[in-house]
Amino acid sequence: MKSCIDFYDDSADAWAEEWYQNETALPYLKKLVEYTHNTKPRILDMCCSAGYQGMRLKNLGAEVVGADLSEKSLEIARQKNPTIPFYQKDMLLSYADLGKFDAISWVGGIIHLEENQLDTALSNMAQVLDKGGLLLLVFIEKGEEVKPVEVNGEVYARSFIYHTKAEIEKYADKYFDFVEDLTLPDDPTGWRYCIYKRR
Ligand SMILES: C[S@@+](CC[C@H](N)C(=O)[O-])C[C@H]1O[C@@H](n2cnc3c(N)ncnc32)[C@H](O)[C@@H]1O
Repeated sequence: MKSCIDFYDDSADAWAEEWYQNETALPYLKKLVEYTHNTKPRILDMCCSAGYQGMRLKNLGAEVVGADLSEKSLEIARQKNPTIPFYQKDMLLSYADLGKFDAISWVGGIIHLEENQLDTALSNMAQVLDKGGLLLLVFIEKGEEVKPVEVNGEVYARSFIYHTKAEIEKYADKYFDFVEDLTLPDDPTGWRYCIYKRR
């Protein structure tokens, strides 16, 4: 069976095609930038895929750095955004070499983590934020298990793990204070967009 990252490598073009056009995350990214109270905040787009949220953050005035494990996604990200640096990084291993950030956008990346990996991922994020640094954490609490997935006859071990807000905060509380649930009342997707602040 192919891996979760094989899934993102093999579907990188499709993600780019859909999400460069889909503006669902834009109001939330805008709020994140506003929350920094900085006209040019340095923002890490963790699990950046093909670079579309990074593009939006840059258009909102941020200095963006993107990180993801899927090299094919990063290739597209670099082609489409030649002025944004994109790095192949695992969210479960330290990426402190990228320096410090005013904020992190983490849109959908948490679905790839088991509960026993949450502390490591959040600790790596806390490491690159100073006190008061912001985290936009985008998660989905419930749905149907969709693992493995089959695309064009290939079977992938693509994880899609639901975490409740309470479960996330069991781990996040060590490093972050909850600030606000930004999710718009008419958001039809089931995803929740929450802001946390580095303690
Ligand atoms: C559901 S997609 C979300 C992509 C994007 N943030 C968005 O808004 O659509 C999850 C992304 O996480 C990446 N990913 C999965 N495991 C990862 C890991 N351990 N470290 C870094 N990126 C990872 C995948 O390659 C994929 O691009």
